Amino acid sequence: MKRETVVVLDFGGQYNQLIARRVRECNVYCEIYSYKTDIEKIKEIQPKGIIFTGGPNSCYEPDSPTYPKEILELGIPVLGICYGAQLMMHLLGGTVEKAPVREYGKIEVNVDTNSKLFTDVSPKTICWMSHNDYISKAAPDFRISAWTNDCPVAAMENTDKNLYAIQFHPEVLHTQEGTKMLSNFVYNVCGCAGDWKMDSFVEESIKAIREKVGDGKVLCALSGGVDSSVAAVLLSKAVGNQLTCVFVDHGLLRKNEGDEVEAVFGPNGPYDLNFIRVNAQERFYGKLAGVTEPEKKRKIIGEEFIRVFEEEAKKIGAVDFLVQGTIYPDVVESGVGGESTVIKSHHNVGGLPDYVDFKEIIEPLRNLFKDEVRRAGLELGIPDYLVFRQPFPGPGLGIRIIGDITAEKVKMVQDADAIWREEIAKAGWDKKVNQYFAALTNMKSVGVMGDERTYDYAIALRAVTTTDFMTAESAEIPWEVIGRTTSRIVNEVKHVNRVLYDCTGKPPATIEFE
Ligand code: XMP
Repeated sequence: MKRETVVVLDFGGQYNQLIARRVRECNVYCEIYSYKTDIEKIKEIQPKGIIFTGGPNSCYEPDSPTYPKEILELGIPVLGICYGAQLMMHLLGGTVEKAPVREYGKIEVNVDTNSKLFTDVSPKTICWMSHNDYISKAAPDFRISAWTNDCPVAAMENTDKNLYAIQFHPEVLHTQEGTKMLSNFVYNVCGCAGDWKMDSFVEESIKAIREKVGDGKVLCALSGGVDSSVAAVLLSKAVGNQLTCVFVDHGLLRKNEGDEVEAVFGPNGPYDLNFIRVNAQERFYGKLAGVTEPEKKRKIIGEEFIRVFEEEAKKIGAVDFLVQGTIYPDVVESGVGGESTVIKSHHNVGGLPDYVDFKEIIEPLRNLFKDEVRRAGLELGIPDYLVFRQPFPGPGLGIRIIGDITAEKVKMVQDADAIWREEIAKAGWDKKVNQYFAALTNMKSVGVMGDERTYDYAIALRAVTTTDFMTAESAEIPWEVIGRTTSRIVNEVKHVNRVLYDCTGKPPATIEFE
């Protein structure tokens, strides 16, 4: 049976994966293709609908990403978003030019609720805008269906041809009724039935992994984080004893974390994963000595990881497959999945060395978002407390210590972080924020303690709320919790004399510091 599919054509925007995810939330299967994909390939898929994404370019510049106009003549409904909307107008004879007023942020948009796209949407609705260019004139035969004070053509449609274009971003949660608009597109315009469900993911994956692996040996990189834990348990269900899990303690873990991971996944825990712990702290510190550039640190940690695995694999002998817990946001932010600009090379993805000594890498969660991974984890019977752990990045504290890394700095950030987590949990804020940690700034400043001058480091505390980790807001933690934490940190952690709270959201900052 042919699976009903919506295709997202990627023109390089940062939120492209979110579009796919929102479509999947409507129970419609969705795949992302680069704008460089041949139109014949898209035709073969027979998509129920096509979505053009946003992107950083100006569509009227000669070398900007474009697509053959024929895509708009196939009779398949197309929705253009932001750059995608501008490109659609540009291809069909509308006018796109530099906007006299750049719109950025949450903007009130007037919509015509008679449009199929805006059925059941409020006539005035808050949408997320982020654009330098604007559509000054829609293409012939297009009707304007939304507008703002500064943007006379915020949405337009040609219902005879099923072509829709919107200047704002329905995929980000800041657009309050964005999910409704995308659901309207896939159901009202494309006529999808919505028969794709996440439940089948685990079952399908286990089957596919078994087929691929045969009787080969599999090595899994287990960090104890949600992603690699779900990947490991999934693999163990699929291939049982053929799996060995290697846990590398790179000396950049949170306080006591190594022992905690061993307690759950080691020989005395509830799982049987052939667990091997490698204590490689000195090795990582040696490689990182004196390195300050964030991308370089990420690459070194990523590469060293792979080397450690290769060595373990050689000890086991004839390892065919390496499993990694890479998830969708890792792929998009590393710029390897689509056309987006590289923000950070995520550990295990962009940081992968050119030469890897395994037959193949298996990444069973590569197409899932964090909350989808958690759902898969629950289906696999992994306990809640593991499934809902806050995320911890692969390069660990290495990217929470600004500047060069030393064992002494690691200890400082571990101790400060442990205090922050303890105080947050005591105050019940661990349920209200999605990620919280301490980072060591590379800043030293003057203080006074017991009549003595000090010249010591500043710790930055971070706590954010987010649903997708692509955008986030700094959490308003009560002052007394921050105050108590501050006083404990300066008293209990040597060489720290100042504590700062990070009030920045993402964008413009990122969640981690490097
Ligand atoms: P940023 O800092 O990019 O982080 O806003 C978004 C989310 O991703 C986590 N993160 C990582 N996770 N490997 C990972 O597995 C990495 O290299 C990495 N870098 C960031 C980060 O903790 C946050 O949850």
